[in-house]
Amino acid sequence: MKVLLVLLLIVTVKSQTENELDWWESGNFYQIYPRSYMDSDGDGIGDLQGIKSKLDYVKSLGMDGVWLSPIYKSPQADFGYDISDYRDINEDYGTLEDFQEVLDKCNEIGLKLILDFVPNHSSDEHDWFQKSEARVPGYEDFYIWRDGKIDPYTNLLVPPTNWISFFRYSAWRWSNIRQQFYLHQFHYKQPDLNYRDAKLVQEMKNILTYWMTKGVAGFRIDIIVCLYEKMFSNGTFPDEPVGNPNCGFNDHCYLDHIYTQDQDETFDMAYQWRELLDEFKETFGGFTRIMMTESYSSVEKAQRFYGNGTRKGSYVPFNFEIIKNMNKESTAKDYKRTIDSWLDPMPAGVLANWVVGNHDQHRVASRLGVQKGDLINIMVQTLPGIAITYMGEELVMTNVHVSWNDTLDPQACNTNDPINYESSSRDPARTPFPWDSSKNGGFSTADKTWLPAGDLYKTVNVQFQEQAQNSHLKIFRKLTTVRKQNVFRRGDYHGVLTNNENVYAYSRNYGDQYAVIILNFSKNTETVNVLNAFENSIPTQMKIYTSSLASGLGDDTTVNTSSVKVDSNIGVVLLSTNINI
Ligand code: NOJ
Ligand code: MG
Repeated sequence: MKVLLVLLLIVTVKSQTENELDWWESGNFYQIYPRSYMDSDGDGIGDLQGIKSKLDYVKSLGMDGVWLSPIYKSPQADFGYDISDYRDINEDYGTLEDFQEVLDKCNEIGLKLILDFVPNHSSDEHDWFQKSEARVPGYEDFYIWRDGKIDPYTNLLVPPTNWISFFRYSAWRWSNIRQQFYLHQFHYKQPDLNYRDAKLVQEMKNILTYWMTKGVAGFRIDIIVCLYEKMFSNGTFPDEPVGNPNCGFNDHCYLDHIYTQDQDETFDMAYQWRELLDEFKETFGGFTRIMMTESYSSVEKAQRFYGNGTRKGSYVPFNFEIIKNMNKESTAKDYKRTIDSWLDPMPAGVLANWVVGNHDQHRVASRLGVQKGDLINIMVQTLPGIAITYMGEELVMTNVHVSWNDTLDPQACNTNDPINYESSSRDPARTPFPWDSSKNGGFSTADKTWLPAGDLYKTVNVQFQEQAQNSHLKIFRKLTTVRKQNVFRRGDYHGVLTNNENVYAYSRNYGDQYAVIILNFSKNTETVNVLNAFENSIPTQMKIYTSSLASGLGDDTTVNTSSVKVDSNIGVVLLSTNINI
């Protein structure tokens, strides 16, 4: 009897600690670019009803949360990142009622909904901007207005600083109405909001509360690094020094952005938003509302968004290290170094996250090599922490070519270069999602979709990969399934380089559960002795759970960990035989 009681106690204590993971911890997130996911009304533009009709698919991928790129009212100069009403839905996408239906459906099937919050700038068509431009009392300082300077050589009026927009050319634009320049770090139709104005700060917080009250589970915070610019006490701004003289002098990369990014006040605002999210939970209860922050700065600066020891910040400061540093030529050593560069300095008590693509980057398979498509998915799904997938990565989509005439991305249009625009264009990763091989990949019945669907859908689409005996999609689902095991949710991580640094392998271990991931980045087939590489700390025999489509390895076969043959560009997931799925 006593023994039984003790056993019962142990079991309850164990399951209590095991239940402690919050919904977002080791979560799996999927990014939808709404304009291109599914068009329900045949106008060639994706919409909320379209998304709603595909949420079961998102759920079937094993996702915990879905992040929608902006759906708010917007003239679409930057495809929704230019918002003219933060509390309403863009008419191309539907109405607030449609939004509610999306949210209800998410709740019904157990998906958390994350919205994109674009705090750095609004649209110039936002009523705040028009009031600010007209100096309506209370709104004068909602944006960053400055007088120009007289150029001593030409005697002409020039912008207050040399700052350059992300989309090229001066980041300042003259307003005839106000007779001053306003700052826009992106498109001139995206004026920068002024976070030194208390009323604006409060307005933005109210907007977060508005959407939390509707029931969203958090926010992806757009270009948070740009919230503040360095300002002298007399209200003037400093010029930025040249960063990369090899860039054209109209290009954003020409300057070193020490005064327009990552200012101390920016981190403080991130912590204030975290406090707001946490207070909301304390007051109204329910689940944790999370924030994910976008920063392409150094690891050190991106990780500052996690918090500062006393104050908490972002739950998921996006880890863009793979995007920033890896290319087709990257080796096993490069990958391991890049992954460790995020894991090693991470403060205690936070989680890592892995992002390999999004709507701003060329498709990951095009950037890192289509043969490595499954390998990359294996890596993202099995590293410790949170995984983020951009729609289409589960199918190993590649870029879709968009001609100069069809190009819409302002970043590409501003190159004014019909020959070389494609490297700057974000359109190749924003084309309609391929559901099947019918017209427009089943995305829309329209004769012309907003961006062309291209030809890719004829060979890469959901229906085909659902029906095939094995496919990228099926491998992806196997990965998201196994990810729910404790060995991945809580297991520790130990990475090694083996086979003359041609192979990157890591073990995950939790209690008596083991997983070993072998990634062969070399051009040759490698016979890997992982047992040796992990100094006998893993089982001598394990089973193949899944591997890249082209691996030639059968699932569920048992292998000796002292000798696993892995072809070039192939990833393999081994599990200890006591894990049954
Ligand atoms: C980052 C977004 O991801 C990108 O698409 C947008 O153009 C800029 N921020 C400006 O909002
Ligand atoms: Mg539509």
